[in-house]
Amino acid sequence: MASSSRGQFTSRFGFIMAAAGSAVGLGNVWGFPTQAASNGGAVFLFVYLAMVFLLAFPMLVAELTIGRYGQSNPISSFKSVWPKGKAGAILLGVVGLIVVSLILAFYAIVAGWLIGSFFGSGLTLIGMDSASHWLTSFGTERNLVLMVSFMAITMYVVRSGVADGIEKWSTRLMPLLFVLFALLTVYIFTQEGSMEGLKMYLIPDFSHFTPSLIVGAMGQAFFSLSLGVCVMTTYGSYLKKDTNIPKTAAQVALIDTGVAFIAGLVILPAMFVAKNHGVEIFSESGELLNSDTLVFTVLPAMFDTMGSVGAIIGIVFFLLMIIAALTSSISMLEVPVSCATEELNQNRNTAVLWIGGLVTIASGVIVMNFSSLFVLVIQFTTVYSQPIIALLITLLAGWIWNRNQVLNELKEGYPEIESSWFWKIWPTYVRFVCPVLMLLVFFA
Ligand code: PFF
Repeated sequence: MASSSRGQFTSRFGFIMAAAGSAVGLGNVWGFPTQAASNGGAVFLFVYLAMVFLLAFPMLVAELTIGRYGQSNPISSFKSVWPKGKAGAILLGVVGLIVVSLILAFYAIVAGWLIGSFFGSGLTLIGMDSASHWLTSFGTERNLVLMVSFMAITMYVVRSGVADGIEKWSTRLMPLLFVLFALLTVYIFTQEGSMEGLKMYLIPDFSHFTPSLIVGAMGQAFFSLSLGVCVMTTYGSYLKKDTNIPKTAAQVALIDTGVAFIAGLVILPAMFVAKNHGVEIFSESGELLNSDTLVFTVLPAMFDTMGSVGAIIGIVFFLLMIIAALTSSISMLEVPVSCATEELNQNRNTAVLWIGGLVTIASGVIVMNFSSLFVLVIQFTTVYSQPIIALLITLLAGWIWNRNQVLNELKEGYPEIESSWFWKIWPTYVRFVCPVLMLLVFFA
């Protein structure tokens, strides 16, 4: 398909907001704080930061650059940088889009819980307690209804295409979420018990430092930056040629990590505040209870401490979180949809309908077999698949793609790159250091 007929982000700010929109989501507000809380707090935070800086950021540059060079869906972008490996390119693309669809399948369930909390808070406010209770208590029917609602909204937005749907939503609402989190951070520190959470979050206790923590932090970093599932390759393809990729990637990584950090700064202290108010957070042996739904217990408990304004802040918070989840889910659905429209020549509506439909069915299967499938799918996709596929994409950029072509592509938006420290380090780094680091982590 000619590149002129494809959508494009209209401004660099729009792109950063959309890519950051993909990155910022449940991973920051649900995944990261939950994992930090379950893995000793500060140690997890530090290992996570190291993973973002040492592995995820260089790989983000690789994905964006391949995508922008290819100016197409991931399958044909991989083909364009892998001249003699068409079958390999197709396989890599297809595996990426299967994994991203599976991620969307579990993501929609958790995002559905956000919708439940949003309407639940509203209904409590007008005294409809039993409806609110249904929406906020774990149950198969409730999970199904909420998940299908979330999928329907995702499909609706993706149907409208890049600049219209994705960019518009992200640019307007992402900054608002950041501000709300900053305000919540200030508030939570006025509450009793919060210092205990802050200590846990910032003062490392190295007895928690284990190989599984490192693998978990690595998976979380890839999940949070939407790597290894062709999302950033796809978004890169909508990026204008005059954009400086390393700088843009650094900004996206910074925003994402900033939001995760600040979410931890609210949620870990909020756990202890909630505990002070009688909410059961830890078991007798000190382990986290119900970690999957932790955030959905702790946050409402925090809003409760705020009196009547709390209900309203809760509603605004959950609304913004739904939108943050939506800017991530649309980026996921965009990957298979862009492949279907360009590789199979389908129109956008048809592609959204059948692919979205299949993901909804997969998600329904997980809901019906929640206890056996939910954690399994998360582990399979985020802990193993995402880092491994990201590594393959990076190897493609580091070993297979012609070095001059890489340089020329990066030069388009950064003419002086050849003399920069980035270019002195990055090509060798993605060739040798990234793969070795990752293998070390896996075999640790
Ligand atoms: N990065 C998103 C988050 O942190 O919520 C999740 C995500 C989006 C993962 C897109 C994978 C993906 F392809």
